[in-house]
Order: sequence, then structure tokens, then C-alpha cells
Amino acid sequence: MKRWRRALLYMPGDSPRKINRGANSGVDGMVMDLEDGVASKQRAVARETIRSALQELDFGRSEAFVRVNPVGHVDHEADLRGVLCDRLDGIVLPKVESVEQLQAMHERLALHESMTGLPRDSLAVFAIIETALGLVRLAEIAAFAAQVQRMQGLIFGALDYIASLGGHTTKQGHESFVARSTVVMHAKAHGLEAIDTVYPAFRDREGLLQDTQTGIEMGYTGKQIIHPDQAQPVQDAHSPTAEQLDRARSIVRAHREQERLGVGAFALDGEMIDMPVIKEALALLERARFGKS
Ligand code: COA
Ligand code: MG
Repeated sequence: MKRWRRALLYMPGDSPRKINRGANSGVDGMVMDLEDGVASKQRAVARETIRSALQELDFGRSEAFVRVNPVGHVDHEADLRGVLCDRLDGIVLPKVESVEQLQAMHERLALHESMTGLPRDSLAVFAIIETALGLVRLAEIAAFAAQVQRMQGLIFGALDYIASLGGHTTKQGHESFVARSTVVMHAKAHGLEAIDTVYPAFRDREGLLQDTQTGIEMGYTGKQIIHPDQAQPVQDAHSPTAEQLDRARSIVRAHREQERLGVGAFALDGEMIDMPVIKEALALLERARFGKS
């Protein structure tokens, strides 16, 4: 069954305490990090810590992902060898800049599946787009991802993106708005999940809610988070409310009725309803059907 990840919670792979806490946080997906959240001299320890966690912990309703170093990075293969096992749900792949990188990731996971008897494409992949080159090549990357079953979604990383430009990140985020919009556009053009950038000020609940709402309005279906306190507000924001669902059902009902009468656009409670509104209502109902697990 299709799943939608409303929040992906990162934690440093060398912190058993945070991994433990993440496993009890009720988040849709936890991402144990081996990349930028871990000092390079701690990577070997982090692989061991993640491996033990995968073998021993009960992740409850959360999926367990690992963020490895990018394809082509000196630690990439060692990261995979360290953590690939049958309790892992998938890989978050950072700094994706080419189809070749995704192809290599896909083949590496297919090899692991065939050698260990796992079903093909059972290990999911999320690709982080977070560099200027990744943005420039996004059309090819997204088109490739759409053809490979394990490629579930695109993630936008604003902080690294702006760093790759030599720019400066601000709280308003105007500097990354076009890229943020481009990533969700390409994801949606190919039926992929779109996971929004992080909101780093983890004590600022109001700011988090606003930023999450902006992402939702842009079309994002989930968001990366960096602190367990961000999980509930982000997942709630990404879950349609009862009121939104009622409204969506009335729109779809009215549309069926009007269609029978041969009418295209029509009025409902003083608002014009036409195809884009109906599509939005259908998308909301679909997410509500698959979002809960
Ligand atoms: N995942 C799981 N648990 C976390 C967590 C996370 N991302 N961030 C904090 N916690 C835990 C803490 O361990 C602490 O639990 P404890 O009291 O049992 O030790 C509790 O939540 C409260 O933490 P708090 O004191 O508010 O924050 P902190 O100062 O310990 O940590 C950060 C702040 C930013 C260092 C931390 O949130 C973090 O490591 N975030 C993820 C960083 C990361 O992975 N970055 C790379 C991807 S962008
Ligand atoms: Mg990054």
C-alpha cells in the first residue's frame, strides 16, 4: 500500500539516546544519519550504533531509514555495508546531482536484495536535492526516479542548496523559494512524494507551523524535522482536518451530480468549483486514505 511520510525525523547515527527517543516518537519516518549530522571520525561508531539499533529496537509505527554519504563519496560504500540489513526500510541519499548516482544506488540495493532474498525494490530511496547542480538536472533526475519503483520521493534541502550557491540563508527563505517550488513541481509532475526542507529553529513552534503551512500550500506532502518536538505539529499539519475532508467530500459529490447534468463549472456555498478545485479535493481524500498507518 502507498504510504505518505508526513515527517522524517533526523538524528545523529552515533547517538543511541536520540535513536531510542526517535523510535518512541511516533514519527512516520526516522532517519539515522551518517552524513552531515555525524563528525567524520565518528562514522565507524555511528554505523555500529545504527546496526545495533536496527537489530534490537522496536520502531513501533515508524519506518527506519538511514542517510548515507552521497554516491561517489569515499564513505558511501562503507556506510551501506555497515547498515544494510532486513530491518531497514530504506536509504535517504543526499546531494543527488545526476541520474548516474540514482542508477548506481538502485543497482547496489538490487544486488543486496538479490543476495539476501529480500523482495526486489523493497528498500526505498528518497533523493535529497540540495545543490545548484541537482536543481539544474532535476528534470532528468525526477524522470528517472519515476521509473524505478523503490524511488519514493524527492526531498528539498534549502540550507545546503544556498551554501552551494555561496549565498546566505535567511529566516524568510526568499533566497530558496524558487528552488523549493521547483523541487515540489518536479516531484508532483512524476507522482513522487515531495518532502520539504527543515526548520532549524526547533524551539520556535509558531515559526515551524508557518513554515510547514507554506510548504503544504506549495504542494509538499511531508517535511524533514530535526527535533522530536517538531513531530506532532508537523504531522498534524500534514493530516487533513475533519472539516477539510467534509468539504472535499461535498465537492466531489456535487461534481458527480453536476457532471450527470452536463455542467462543468458550478457554484457551491458561494464559491466557483471547477476541475482544479475538484482535483485538489480528490488529492486530499487520497492522502487521508493512505496517510494513516
Ligand atoms: N532525535 C531524537 N531525539 C532527539 C533529537 C532528535 N533529532 N533531538 C533531541 N532529541 C532528544 C534529546 O536527546 C533529549 O532527550 P534526553 O533528555 O533523553 O537526552 C530531548 O530530545 C530534548 O532535547 P533538547 O535538549 O531539546 O535538544 P538538544 O540540545 O539535546 O539537541 C540538537 C539539539 C539540534 C543537537 C538535536 O535536536 C539534534 O541532534 N538534531 C538532529 C541533528 C541532525 O541529525 N542533523 C542532520 C540532519 S539536518
Ligand atoms: Mg544536507
